[in-house]
Amino acid sequence: MERVLADELGQDLTKLAAEEKQRLLSRLLARLAHEIRNPLSSLAIHVQLLEEDMAQASPPLVAKSAGRFEIIRSELLRLENLMRQFLSLAAPSAVDLHPVEVAEIVGYVCELLRPEAATRGIEVVMRVPDGLPSLTADPAQLKQALINLVINAIQAIERNGRIEVDARADPAAGAFFLRVSDDGPGVSGEKRSAIFEPFFTTKSEGSGLGLWIVQQIATAHRGLATVEDRPGGGAAFTLQLPYAPGRAADPESHG
Ligand SMILES: Nc1ncnc2c1ncn2[C@@H]1O[C@H](COP(=O)(O)OP(=O)(O)OP(=O)(O)O)[C@@H](O)[C@H]1O
Ligand SMILES: [Mg+2]
Repeated sequence: MERVLADELGQDLTKLAAEEKQRLLSRLLARLAHEIRNPLSSLAIHVQLLEEDMAQASPPLVAKSAGRFEIIRSELLRLENLMRQFLSLAAPSAVDLHPVEVAEIVGYVCELLRPEAATRGIEVVMRVPDGLPSLTADPAQLKQALINLVINAIQAIERNGRIEVDARADPAAGAFFLRVSDDGPGVSGEKRSAIFEPFFTTKSEGSGLGLWIVQQIATAHRGLATVEDRPGGGAAFTLQLPYAPGRAADPESHG
């Protein structure tokens, strides 16, 4: 792996610190995702054209090919999702820090996903106390992390349940805690250590990158993402973020 990276980036990786390697790897992956995207969209167009051509074939052939086209289309969709996820974290360690109102961010995410949740009988409840201090964070990345967590909660519940998104500040620890909890099946012990790994998924159409991205975003803010079981069943994911991660979290600034 290191050889491949070194060749690609023209650098001697043995001399680089772990953090630096991580950053190079994500740059390489982002580039790869970019390169894969173009042929993918051209494939999608040509598959569609081929499907149109096939409509003129004999009925048994049309029937036989329908299932194959279905598979091709859904696999293309899966690859596209994968690439989109990758591109959304093109430079995860380069955080663009601003003072953000946590209530605004949480409100935005809840509003965004409430309609989708409602179609499955899932309630999305926001619990953010008044008067929270403002948090220094990258608002776009924070939204992305919460969106990934709430989407996971919706998918875990499947039908009829409740998701709570809450926030609290702990001035003594200098930290914010943003938590997304659900009353779905929860995360069993053996899965708990795997779910934050890239590509770990239990879903047929999942890329397994959602939680990895959440963890990357937390780390870029010098924070942490964790999971717990809820006493009454279900899972609770917590993003622990420092009040102000400081400029040290922006390594792109020195080239
Ligand atoms: N709220 C949750 N309750 C139970 N299991 C969960 C929950 N969130 C995540 N998981 C488990 O963790 C796995 C990894 O989640 P992750 O978000 O990384 O990938 P994914 O949801 O499978 O795919 P993607 O997010 O790329 O669409 C899931 O497949 C699921 O098994
Ligand atoms: Mg997910």
